[in-house]
Parts: sequence; structure tokens; C-alpha cells
Amino acid sequence: MREGPFNEINTGRGKSVASVEKVREFLHKYKFDGYQSVDLPHGLKMPGRDWSDRSGVIFNHPVKGKTVLDVGCKYGYFCHEAILKGARKVVGIEINREYATVAKDIVDLWGRDITILCRDLYDIEKAIHYDIVLFLNVLHHIIDPVEAMKRLAGIANEILIVEFCTLVDPQTNMNLLLRTLYKTSFSKLPLIYIGPRKYHRTWYFSKNAFESLFVKQMDLFKKVEFSTSRRKKGRLVAYCWV
Ligand SMILES: C[S@@+](CC[C@H](N)C(=O)[O-])C[C@H]1O[C@@H](n2cnc3c(N)ncnc32)[C@H](O)[C@@H]1O
Repeated sequence: MREGPFNEINTGRGKSVASVEKVREFLHKYKFDGYQSVDLPHGLKMPGRDWSDRSGVIFNHPVKGKTVLDVGCKYGYFCHEAILKGARKVVGIEINREYATVAKDIVDLWGRDITILCRDLYDIEKAIHYDIVLFLNVLHHIIDPVEAMKRLAGIANEILIVEFCTLVDPQTNMNLLLRTLYKTSFSKLPLIYIGPRKYHRTWYFSKNAFESLFVKQMDLFKKVEFSTSRRKKGRLVAYCWV
């Protein structure tokens, strides 16, 4: 979903926290889609889902003193979480201009040292490396997961953390019989499923498929560990060690 040019969007670096009037102005300026709520200064909050329970799973790997890239950051919830947990440098990349603009405004309201770039992940600068790369709930939206994973593994110093859809996701359109058959007989197989709706969900990976493709076939990682996602039923979090 490309929207607008991929210009750099500035950071809030060096600024102080905005006044309560400015925060209220921000809340009236946009129609938020409710996907992510981000805390705002003066105890205010954006409307939307509270992902604080996800944060513990994602930042199971410590970020203190580390550099972090959040790919497909939307409104930047995990960028702020990384800074609050002591990350040294945080960059968020978001292809959608509207989301990136909101994310940048939130950074400005806090005056935090976070950079938001409106950019396609396939245009990420290959020479700049980050200790930790987050790739959360984006893999199913993109058309070329092989190229994306290759690029992101190539710029991660330590770990790439991927939250992705498995075939147990209720949106596959599999009927009850197929879903039961999959769960009871095929879930251990290295299967990849293609979703029926464009962009909405293209790729679904079984755990074994994810590991077979990105570790055994492509040699991108030394090892992968999986954890249950708090995002939604049928999602997994993969900690991919480079
Ligand atoms: C489902 S949201 C996930 C947001 C956040 N990572 C989370 O897990 O809470 C997917 C985000 O990825 C962005 N996205 C999709 N394709 C992208 C691409 N090629 N490059 C950068 N961002 C992309 C979307 O615009 C959207 O904001």
C-alpha cells in the first residue's frame, strides 16, 4: 500500500514536552483508526487498543543501550516502548504517509529522540545496522517475504523479532473441517498458505515453514525461538538470532 513519496520525516529530538493545549489540538486534528493507542503527555491517550501486554513479549529481549528499528511502526507504539525501556537510538519506518505523520506528531509532542521515516521497507538503507529490528505484523501484508527477511536480517546486529500469521489465524477462510484437519494432522508440517484477500493477509506460515525457509534454506539466522503472540489468535512471535 504505497502512499505518497518516501521523504524523511524529522524527529522530536531536542524538543521539550508539548503543552496540554497542543496535545488536545493533536487529538482533535486526526481520525485515528483505533489500531494502536499511544500514551500522550499530561496523562492523555490516543483512542485505540492498549498493547501493553504485547510489549512484555516483544521486549523479552532487553533493549537497554541498544539501537532499535521498528519496521511498519504505524503510530509508533513500539518506538516509544523501546525508548522507555532504555534504547539508545530508535527509528520507526512506516510506508503509509498518514500513519507516519501521526507517529511523527506524537514524537514531537513528547520531544523524544525517535526518528520516524515514511518509507517502504524495501528501500531501507542497507549500510545502517541496528542491534534489534522489529518486524511486527507486517510480513503477511507484503508481496515478497523472502526479499524482506533477507534485507532485515542483513541490517540486524543481534536479533530480528517477527510477529506473523500462522495457518490457525481465523482469517484464512478455511472451513471448520479443514481447520480441524490442519490442527490435528498437519500443523507440524512446513506449510505456507496464501490468503484470498489482497494486502489484508497474503502469507500464513506454519512454525516449521518459517524455520525451514528462513533458517535452513536461506541461512539467515543461527536459530529461531518462538513465543505465543498476545496480538491475536493464530499469531506467533519469532526471535530470530543473526
Ligand atoms: C498491521 S500494522 C502493524 C503495526 C505494528 N507493527 C504493530 O504490530 O502493532 C502493519 C503496518 O505495516 C505498514 N507497512 C505495510 N507494508 C509496509 C512496507 N512495505 N514498508 C513499511 N511499512 C509497511 C502498514 O502501513 C501498517 O502500518
